[in-house]
Amino acid sequence: MKKNRQVLLSVVFLISTPIYSFAKDIAVIGTGYVGLVLGAALAEFGNKVVCLDISKDKIDMLNNGQIPIYEPGLDKLVAKNIDAGRLTFSTKVAEGIRNNEAIFIAVGTPFGDDGSADLKYVDAVAHTIGENLNGYKLVCTKSTVPIGTGKRIRNIIEQHNPAYEFDTASNPEFLREGSAVPDFLEPDRVVIGVDSQRAQEILEDVYAPLIEKNYPFLVTNIPTAEAIKYASNAFLATKISYINELAKLCDKVGADVKFVAKGMGLDKRIGGAFLYPGPGYGGSCFPKDTEALVYTAATNGVHLDIVKAAIDANNHQKHHVTRKLFELLDNDVKGKNIAVLGLAFKANTDDIRYSPAINIIKALINGGAHVKAFDPEATENMKELFPHISYMNSIDETVKGADAVAIITEWDEIASIDLAHLKKLVKTPILMDARNLFEPQILRNLGFKFDNIGRSHI
Ligand code: UDX
Repeated sequence: MKKNRQVLLSVVFLISTPIYSFAKDIAVIGTGYVGLVLGAALAEFGNKVVCLDISKDKIDMLNNGQIPIYEPGLDKLVAKNIDAGRLTFSTKVAEGIRNNEAIFIAVGTPFGDDGSADLKYVDAVAHTIGENLNGYKLVCTKSTVPIGTGKRIRNIIEQHNPAYEFDTASNPEFLREGSAVPDFLEPDRVVIGVDSQRAQEILEDVYAPLIEKNYPFLVTNIPTAEAIKYASNAFLATKISYINELAKLCDKVGADVKFVAKGMGLDKRIGGAFLYPGPGYGGSCFPKDTEALVYTAATNGVHLDIVKAAIDANNHQKHHVTRKLFELLDNDVKGKNIAVLGLAFKANTDDIRYSPAINIIKALINGGAHVKAFDPEATENMKELFPHISYMNSIDETVKGADAVAIITEWDEIASIDLAHLKKLVKTPILMDARNLFEPQILRNLGFKFDNIGRSHI
């Protein structure tokens, strides 16, 4: 079978037709960030995909051509594959399982009370699969699940005494919000964890276009694939916490963290990525995955001191940035008008989960400040958390008459602010640049009182 595939791949390469010969029938369960990108991208690879979700509202929106999340390029990818007849949406989860050979689980795994990942949605899906097994199925996790979940899913399905064979597999996602579509279509690597040849061959078919283009395709056992995801995210989180701590030292000794990071990053063994200091990492992955990894390790008697330290440093960083803003205002924020620019946990997403903006807004409200906030995409989500602050539609409206401006997210629109114009609009030129978007010398020349992360004395 493998040989045949290689022959077909060469033929496909020569005549450069789409690789429909390998196309699989796939059900993706869970149509959130991960599931929707996964479904659309697998359809783009030529597979026939149904995206399933129990939320009727979400499926109705998708069937009406609307995308429930902001993710650049996703709308076009979805529309293109709907038109091509390769992508559909449905609430009929059981039917979707029965009609497809490959089932990808992409439901949420929220924080449990004790730092563990809560697997109630994954478990529920596993039960539904067990109840609807009507032939061989490959059940592959795409959600970030604790190491050992492949085995757990197998046990749940087996409780239903299925009359048919099935395999479990792990295919961790490494998608960044805001660039999830290119991350999926042009990945650094695809990792699959399998324990049978049949499962491996199905996943090789699913990802045939990427294998053909020589993207690294790593095949491991299931726990290894599950561990790769956590190990990668915890390492990246550690890199960020490391540079954030170094930035604190730079502030004290007059060093410039921008060049410290650059000088470090030029060493190929270190690399320059993820060495940008900021207000602390947030999002749906790093905070949750680092905690879950520490928890899994602890339940196995292993102490991950480095990951724990990265988590602590990140929590401190969020306070540190708030403290810096308050110090710029001589610790007197009561009655002050503060403009908060950027609410999302990073640019190019509407996601506010664990965003440092939350900590800062909370502290400002507690201190009695009036908060005006702006974000190109995340306003509606933040309104649910803080319904009583003012949300503006433009940067100009937000900063007008402000006693201080705090930059939290590195949106292009914020990074390209005309500082001289901004200075004319604010009441007092005080700026907390928590993303190091602006050169200290320029701010100083314009007469701003400012602070940043690790470049305050430059
Ligand atoms: C991350 C991983 O990158 C991705 O592989 C995984 O599958 C999901 O989690 P994401 O959370 O979307 O993706 O965002 P990412 O771009 O990794 O940024 C995470 C956080 O780190 C953000 O808060 C960002 O602002 C912060 N960050 C990132 C920094 O503070 N400095 C950096 O140098 C890089």
